[in-house]
Amino acid sequence: MGKRVNQQWCLKARPQGQIEESHFEWRRAPIPELRKGGLLVRTIYLSLDPTNRIWMSDIDQYMAPVQVGEVMRGGTIGVVEESNDPKVAVGDLVQGVWGWQEFAVISAGSVRNTLPKNDSFPLTAYMGLLGSIGATAYFGLLDVGKPLKGETLVVTGAAGAVGSIAGQIGKIKGCRVVGIAGSSEKCRWITDELKFDASVNYKTENVLEALKEQCPNGIDVDFENVGGTIFDDILTLINRNARIALCGLISQYTHIDDQKPFPGPVMFRNVLMKRARIEGFIVTDFLSRFPEAFSALRKWHAAGLLKYRVDVVQGLENAATAVNKLFDGSNQGKLIVQVSDDPTSEMLA
Ligand SMILES: NC(=O)c1ccc[n+]([C@@H]2O[C@H](COP(=O)([O-])OP(=O)(O)OC[C@H]3O[C@@H](n4cnc5c(N)ncnc54)[C@H](OP(=O)(O)O)[C@@H]3O)[C@@H](O)[C@H]2O)c1
Repeated sequence: MGKRVNQQWCLKARPQGQIEESHFEWRRAPIPELRKGGLLVRTIYLSLDPTNRIWMSDIDQYMAPVQVGEVMRGGTIGVVEESNDPKVAVGDLVQGVWGWQEFAVISAGSVRNTLPKNDSFPLTAYMGLLGSIGATAYFGLLDVGKPLKGETLVVTGAAGAVGSIAGQIGKIKGCRVVGIAGSSEKCRWITDELKFDASVNYKTENVLEALKEQCPNGIDVDFENVGGTIFDDILTLINRNARIALCGLISQYTHIDDQKPFPGPVMFRNVLMKRARIEGFIVTDFLSRFPEAFSALRKWHAAGLLKYRVDVVQGLENAATAVNKLFDGSNQGKLIVQVSDDPTSEMLA
């Protein structure tokens, strides 16, 4: 103990615009001795999320920004290698927010979840369908969007981790579901595999015209992940008493710290005209109800009604560049970095 070396990505400079590797410093640091109640966790998987870009900015947000010099924040799954807490055993699989690093020395109290070792789901599912991604789709759509059978639901970022699950839950609830995504492969996946009723490729189609065609009865619920002009096109077509579940605004994140403010949605007036409701939410607001979401998501998955995909990049050293897959759209599902060997992968093979 105390001799091993940790490897970490630390925030070196705040980006203005796109994230670059130069915004991080690759640091080698000794692993400190464990205190009472402490754990040494080897990171197996690191979650990369659009919100990483928000955390890198010194703006007022839903939690404290990462400070320059700190290990970059990130959700992780790891295996306990040493334990100074009687409730946690060496070999336990644990989940928490322990950052972009190979090892984490943490207090046992920061463990959010202890994961099963012989589950039918791979560990990566706990960063997607059975993690905060699944919970975001579940609570965002059902509690905030409140879709009713027969209504039309539009999902933006529809082939992404959250959007793909939100759209499928919409189908389960009996909605007409139209997904907006940025490639023909993604559009095919959501209609052919996930059984969305229609898709719109925002990079090649006129979104407003395509939505008019695909939503002949207007839009009742918008599960909004993107913002910008796509959101404006949706607002143009909302029905009376429409609900907008504001989950994310990814089209703005790389410019979130610009001095020049974004112009608001041009069609904002429709919120008034149509007596619509826009509600932003952060998934952790629902933390106490996560078990409800996971039991429903497991049930729907077992019934063949929910599919998901993960995009696993190998090697912590690639995290600082791989995060941009979320912003150029090259991720195919929940973006995860594999940092070290997964002890459960052989059991599933
Ligand atoms: N409120 C919450 O608690 C909460 C929790 C988790 C996630 N979120 C939000 O949910 C959204 C999706 O997150 P995720 O983790 O599921 O990521 P994801 O959708 O798997 O990946 C991000 C996707 O966003 C799309 N995108 C990127 N830049 C875009 C742009 N300028 N215009 C349109 N689309 C763009 C890309 O897909 P295309 O190829 O289709 O462009 C990309 O693949 C994000 O806005 C995120 O912040 C919110």
